[in-house]
Amino acid sequence: MIGKLNHVAIVVPDLAAASAIYRDTLGADVSAPEDLPDHGVTTVFVNLPNTKIELLHPLGEGSPIAKFLQRNPAGGMHHLCYEVADILAARDHLLVQGARVLGDGEPRTGAHGKPVLFLHPKDFCGTLLEIEEI
Ligand code: CO
Repeated sequence: MIGKLNHVAIVVPDLAAASAIYRDTLGADVSAPEDLPDHGVTTVFVNLPNTKIELLHPLGEGSPIAKFLQRNPAGGMHHLCYEVADILAARDHLLVQGARVLGDGEPRTGAHGKPVLFLHPKDFCGTLLEIEEI
C-alpha cells in the first residue's frame, strides 16, 4: 500500500543553524524558510535525490510541535511520511488492520497542499507516521 518515502521531518530549535548544517556541512540543496501559519510551523526543505528532509520549527502559539521541542530541546526526528495513491482507501485499510488514525480521521491539507493523515506512533514501532496522497 505505501509507496515512496516522501520526507523525513526533523524538529529543530534553530532553523538558520539547521539550514546551515544541511547546506554547508552536508552540502545539500536547502530551500528558504516558509511560514505555514495554518500548520503552526515554519519549514525548510532539504531536497535530496531520492527524498526530502523537512526541517520544522514552531510558529505562533499552540504550535503542534511546541511540546516536542520542549521534550527534545536539541531537536529530533518527528515523523516519516509515506506516499499513498488513495488516502481514503489507505485509511480504511489501516482502520481494518486496527491502526489508530489521529484527529477526526478525515484527511487535511498538508504542508505540500496534498491530503494527509497522521497515524499513532504506538501502532508503528514508536514512530509517528504521515501518509500523503500523491
Ligand atoms: Co510531514
